[in-house]
Amino acid sequence: MQTTRRAFILSASAIGAFAALPGSAFAQGTARKSLDILILGGTGFIGPHEINYAKARGHNVTMFNRGKTAPDMFPDVEALIGDRDDQLGALKGRDWDAVIDNSGFYPRHAHLSAELLHGHVDQYMFVSSISAYSDDLSVDDDEFSAAYAVMDDPTDESDSPYGRTYGARKALCEQEVTKVFGDRAINIRPGIITGTGDPTERLRHWLKRMVAGNEILVPGDEDLPVQYIDAADMTGWMVRLLEDGNGSGPYNAVGAEEPYRARPLLEGIRDATGSKSTLTWIDWEWLRKEQPDIGGYAPWYGLGPIPFMQVNNDRALATGLTFRPIEETAKDMIAKWDENSDPLLGQGGLDLETEAALLKKWHAEKG
Ligand SMILES: NC(=O)c1ccc[n+]([C@@H]2O[C@H](COP(=O)([O-])OP(=O)(O)OC[C@H]3O[C@@H](n4cnc5c(N)ncnc54)[C@H](OP(=O)(O)O)[C@@H]3O)[C@@H](O)[C@H]2O)c1
Repeated sequence: MQTTRRAFILSASAIGAFAALPGSAFAQGTARKSLDILILGGTGFIGPHEINYAKARGHNVTMFNRGKTAPDMFPDVEALIGDRDDQLGALKGRDWDAVIDNSGFYPRHAHLSAELLHGHVDQYMFVSSISAYSDDLSVDDDEFSAAYAVMDDPTDESDSPYGRTYGARKALCEQEVTKVFGDRAINIRPGIITGTGDPTERLRHWLKRMVAGNEILVPGDEDLPVQYIDAADMTGWMVRLLEDGNGSGPYNAVGAEEPYRARPLLEGIRDATGSKSTLTWIDWEWLRKEQPDIGGYAPWYGLGPIPFMQVNNDRALATGLTFRPIEETAKDMIAKWDENSDPLLGQGGLDLETEAALLKKWHAEKG
């Protein structure tokens, strides 16, 4: 990576100077200078958070999408239509202060947009993922010590955007952007993002059951570390990082200050939302014996080894990332979710009937 530790320390201290101001009060005002911000992928999950925050801060926003996802979401935001796959004509001949790239999943696409925008935007902020790290990630790693995930053929585009090679492709995308933009490239590496608009079941799974007052089956270790970040917290910090102008290199974007622990996390949310649910902890060994196809479980699934839930966020904290209480995130989601959405859509979890049957059997055996 081209960003040196020295460059990081310089930029972190500069940004830290404003981050030291009362965080949320500063964040809520308008920016000192209005920026022209291009958002690649504005109408999915995190794009709308970026757009709403950027507009509230007084910035001018342009978005670039194919026009397939929620095309009417922002009637007052300029929408350029095109495809990351070499249909970038709408971006030609335009200048912006910064770009936020939410929709880069293939290194060739990242290369094309970075090349086209070079000289036309000052800062290129690429939204990567902690999946860009190899499975060797350890709790002692930071952004600079952790190794990248790799894939056999870096030109292979046969996989779907979030498919098996997602992490290695994100790593390659970061490298493409950094090759072109050098220390003006910013690579944001989120873990589990949640909050209003989260299309996955990774937090909503629990919330749906809490709202219904169900007994809830929770698999595994009560002390399991879990990192969730509210999209609103993350995207607000990203926009402020662009305003500051000194962001550079990679940033792990995971919450909160310290990882949550499974039991206090879920009990805290249950109590704060006034739920009458009880939580029943069941070990994985018993569950796998009873339900061999159980697979993963929201959100206790699939992100890889446990260090992927204990990712170091010092660098983001030093540059002004702050977190609202997770209970507030939960209440926001409950207030705003689509009542008609299927509670069991998305990743992980058991259907309610199977969950109830397993709980019954567990109680019969264990008392
Ligand atoms: N959610 C998480 O927990 C998480 C964690 C780590 C990293 N991330 C990263 O965060 C980023 C944003 O995630 P998200 O959930 O907000 O994404 P998303 O919901 O999939 O949003 C995709 C956006 O990009 C546009 N888009 C998709 N393909 C395009 C293409 N070929 N050309 C042009 N525009 C295209 C879509 O609009 P159209 O369909 O109209 O084109 C939409 O506006 C992703 O890069 C993801 O890898 C997410």
